[in-house]
Amino acid sequence: MNITYYGHSCFGVEVGGKHLLFDPFISPNELAKGVDVTTVKADYILISHGHDDHIADAISIASRTGAKVVCAFEIHTWLNKQGINNTHPMNIGGKWKFDFGNVKCVSAAHSSSLPDGTYGGSPMGFVIESTEGNFYFAGDTALTYDMKLIGIYRTINFAFLPIGDNYTMGVDNAIIAAEFIKCRQIIGMHYDTFEMIKIDKKEAVKKFMHAGNELILFDIGESKSITSGALDTINR
Ligand code: NI
Ligand code: MN
Repeated sequence: MNITYYGHSCFGVEVGGKHLLFDPFISPNELAKGVDVTTVKADYILISHGHDDHIADAISIASRTGAKVVCAFEIHTWLNKQGINNTHPMNIGGKWKFDFGNVKCVSAAHSSSLPDGTYGGSPMGFVIESTEGNFYFAGDTALTYDMKLIGIYRTINFAFLPIGDNYTMGVDNAIIAAEFIKCRQIIGMHYDTFEMIKIDKKEAVKKFMHAGNELILFDIGESKSITSGALDTINR
């Protein structure tokens, strides 16, 4: 699987020959100025919740690419009103088989409203199951005891966890989350974009290492490929 980081919590993941794009927030992100949003590939756009820092570029990318947007029922309804009709509504606990693999929606402890104030339903995380491996994209969430269920439900090969604190869990709680989901390879997200979520990255990597886990941090625009449990940098 190739993984590309577009800043904040936005990642592209190639699974089963399809491009999955998570939580598109690129054009308003000062740190992602080097990313040309008009070239970002997507066959599917998965949106964890309605906050602007997760949905800002969803409409433009969905319009350009024709990608199917996978999201909470309430976000699906809102997108339909904005003229985006290729959507797949889901809710927590539900699973659907797509052509690249399965998406299972899991709970996230956060809030969710859309940019115009519309209720966004429950915030979610996603467990992606494919023949190439399984991964968990947590979205914005606190550490919850429910995360243990994810570790019981599936072997998670790698996981995207928020580590910026203030709005979500921070590094110390993300280390406990990694234990709960029984996953050693954690890709950090939701840090440094705003003043209140700036972190000491070296310290974060060290803390994960001391806990026996690996914290992988991408440069914005960077791609890595995951093969047999190891992430290799393929370009910068
Ligand atoms: Ni949020
Ligand atoms: Mn957020």
